[in-house]
Amino acid sequence: MNQISPVQADTASRATQPDLRRVDCDPDFWYPVAWSADLRKDKTLAVSYAGTPIVLVRPEEGSVFALYDRCPHRQVPLSKGTVNGQTVRCCYHGWAFGRSGRCIDVPYLGKGKLPNGVRTFPVREAGGLIFVFPGNPEKADTVPFPKLAQTDNPRYKTKHFSPRVNCHYTFMHENLMDMNHQFLHRRQMGQIKARFLGQDRGENFIEARYSFMRCAGQQPLAERLIFGKHKDLQGREQPVEEVVTIRTEYPYQTLRITDKDGDLIMDLWTAYVPVDKEQRVTQSFGLLSILRPQTPLLIDLIWPALGWFTNRIFLEDKEIVELEQAAWNEVGHDRNVEIFPVVVGLRELLARCGIPHGTTRPDTAPATPATQPATA
Ligand code: FES
Ligand SMILES: [Fe+2]
Repeated sequence: MNQISPVQADTASRATQPDLRRVDCDPDFWYPVAWSADLRKDKTLAVSYAGTPIVLVRPEEGSVFALYDRCPHRQVPLSKGTVNGQTVRCCYHGWAFGRSGRCIDVPYLGKGKLPNGVRTFPVREAGGLIFVFPGNPEKADTVPFPKLAQTDNPRYKTKHFSPRVNCHYTFMHENLMDMNHQFLHRRQMGQIKARFLGQDRGENFIEARYSFMRCAGQQPLAERLIFGKHKDLQGREQPVEEVVTIRTEYPYQTLRITDKDGDLIMDLWTAYVPVDKEQRVTQSFGLLSILRPQTPLLIDLIWPALGWFTNRIFLEDKEIVELEQAAWNEVGHDRNVEIFPVVVGLRELLARCGIPHGTTRPDTAPATPATQPATA
């Protein structure tokens, strides 16, 4: 049988598949861009989606609104301005914009026509996060809003985290989905092996189920406190106790752990939000809900240890995905050799659901014609 060389295979696969690191995230979804607690009343907050600057504004009364974060006059960030009632006033010449994006005041204009306004973004607040809809605003009402772990369930305590990672968002999906990388975490977790139990796929999702087997080393304390002590079977194969289900349901990712009775003991929801135009920097937001143990206050006692433990693991993942991005930057294309069917499926899903690089809609869209009335 004729064998093809790795170089031929590489070239052939690049000819038939888009380079995943050149696939942009589809903006027609709800993306978290900030924690609610970071935006105080009468204040602004500058955020970004894929190179589009967005200012979040929380008036004294009423809900948060979001505008394109550049004043149409001289392109100064509106986030540097001040909030007065339902308007934000640019810090430079004082042009004021209402929550509809309209320019409602130019202090020195007299009776002239008010200039064009700025683009607005639909906003929602849930689970301690502020979400915007960066794509076509007409779709915002019909695109499903995600279920945010167990943030609305008092039986769980939820931890927030939001690390920024210097890599394309697709590396983040691959990293979490592929539990065969536990080798990387051997210093934190001891030696455990993932056992693949099965998968499901659909138009907009892929899900993989695993259980874990400890091969050597001690069960870490934080893990033991959450899951209970695992039986020590002296190197024999450990029976399935918890099932870990990882699911990318575009564009979000979840990791759920159920115990042997089928009870949900851990529920992680994450979103990977591209920051820059090239989409090589990702702002992740995570909500990690843990079922409160029977003993009251135990969760509060173990909380710091849990934070420390998850952070240590995350830092290992962060270093790796950033190295993957650096390798991509060196050669300028994706040379990965993927052998795990779930990750092959995940890559197809991300390529199918994303959009070609650089096709995001224009940054600005005037909110109103130049002859608008002077009202918000
Ligand atoms: S730059 Fe904003 S008012 Fe002039
Ligand atoms: Fe990891």
